[in-house]
Amino acid sequence: MAVDVILGLQWGDEGKGKIVDYLATKYDIVARFQGGPNAGHTLKFDGKKFVLHTIPSGIFRKELLNFIGNGVVIDPITLKKEIQNLEDAEVDYKDRLFVARKAHLILPTHRYLDAASEAAKGKAKIGSTLKGIGPTYMDKTGRNGLRVGDITLPDFMVKYNALKAKHLELLKIYPSIDFDLAAEEKKWHECLESLRSLQHVDGEYFINQAIKDGKKVLAEGAQGSMLDIDFGTYPFVTSSNTISAGVCNGLGIAPKNIGEVIGITKAYCTRVGSGPFPTELEGDLEEYLRQEGGEFGATTGRPRRCGWIDLPQLKYTIMLNGVTQLVVTKIDILNNFEHIEAATHYQYDGKEQDQLPFDMNTTQIMPVYKKYKGWQKSLEAVTDYGELPIEAKAYIQSLEEYLEVPITMVSTGPERKKLILRDVNEMA
Ligand code: GDP
Ligand code: IMO
Ligand code: MG
Repeated sequence: MAVDVILGLQWGDEGKGKIVDYLATKYDIVARFQGGPNAGHTLKFDGKKFVLHTIPSGIFRKELLNFIGNGVVIDPITLKKEIQNLEDAEVDYKDRLFVARKAHLILPTHRYLDAASEAAKGKAKIGSTLKGIGPTYMDKTGRNGLRVGDITLPDFMVKYNALKAKHLELLKIYPSIDFDLAAEEKKWHECLESLRSLQHVDGEYFINQAIKDGKKVLAEGAQGSMLDIDFGTYPFVTSSNTISAGVCNGLGIAPKNIGEVIGITKAYCTRVGSGPFPTELEGDLEEYLRQEGGEFGATTGRPRRCGWIDLPQLKYTIMLNGVTQLVVTKIDILNNFEHIEAATHYQYDGKEQDQLPFDMNTTQIMPVYKKYKGWQKSLEAVTDYGELPIEAKAYIQSLEEYLEVPITMVSTGPERKKLILRDVNEMA
């Protein structure tokens, strides 16, 4: 059985949590393969709202198993809070949540280093979520990290103290910042018990056995492809491979097991944190999108930067991921616009171009826009693709023509049920 993938094609927050939660019932296992508590995936159903950071978005579907793969980095403090939220909501998770022993741990000193490094960068900061992501992946590739499996070994505290001592040495290169290490460490060690109580598995055997047994797996991406460590807007990226290639090493599966790659884009575009954003708007238009779209970070609460959809950018990430189907979310946020715009090309180095330049930070990119007529109606009652206003259909069909991938789902609201599934026959 193939592993299908859902991932974000922009700079994160495309609505992955909502779509995974919706589609999860078609699967046996939902698996996270990268990222960590920098992610904030929002789910809304039955009048309730949940934000997940580390736990996969299939956790509210009773029959499903949920798996945190080796590519994920785990902060026991955040994980404990998420588990507490599940317990408060009486979600029965104990038999359904599995953690790979090879997943790396975020230590309090990783967060300390993240904060000190960002503070030292001043205006050039990445705008990290300050969750310790960068320093943890650095220790992973530097071969110094601690993994979930280590917490059950007798020399765990020795390893912990050695890594902490190394971090304290490293911190000396940065100007000092406020960080109550003693308090954070106390909390961390207390919360470790909660991680200890979960089911630890040798993830690569767990997932490959499931595939062999004919189980259907959905891999849930975090962040977005433009934040990928290799192909994103470096250095303003996260520290993991967010693209579909990351599924293989983040779970321990072979490329031949990848099936559908479902790419999600908002009907417009947002970014939180620093770095290039060619179609970013300013003034009233940006503020309108931010307020109407509730564009404030699910993890940090920071206001998100907002702009028009960027088709060269999407073509690039569709290519990198091998996207087979597209989902367009938050189309309802465009309801009141007289006109909508989409960047179809870039103008730089004196000519019109379709490709992204090597350095998006210094290249002066002028997006070339196409204008669309808005529909200026609520989509509240629309449940069927055919019922969408003609202008909304024209916008969706035009995106599809530019991107050359079928748009199979259109999301019209944050709630689980607000999703229009598009019949392939309507796509001609
Ligand atoms: P994720 O990180 O990709 O899971 O996305 P976030 O949860 O960070 O941000 C997406 C936000 O948009 C959340 O507040 C969702 O509840 C909300 N959302 C998702 N799809 C839709 C939609 O189609 N319409 C509207 N209005 N909100 C949506
Ligand atoms: P989800 O899964 C949006 C951004 C941060 C920063 C950069 C690096 O909810 O889509 P990091 O803390 O990873 O070192 O920060 O990446 N970022 C996200 N932006 N959504 C996310 O996750 C993000 N995770 C990280 O804002 O610019
Ligand atoms: Mg998010």
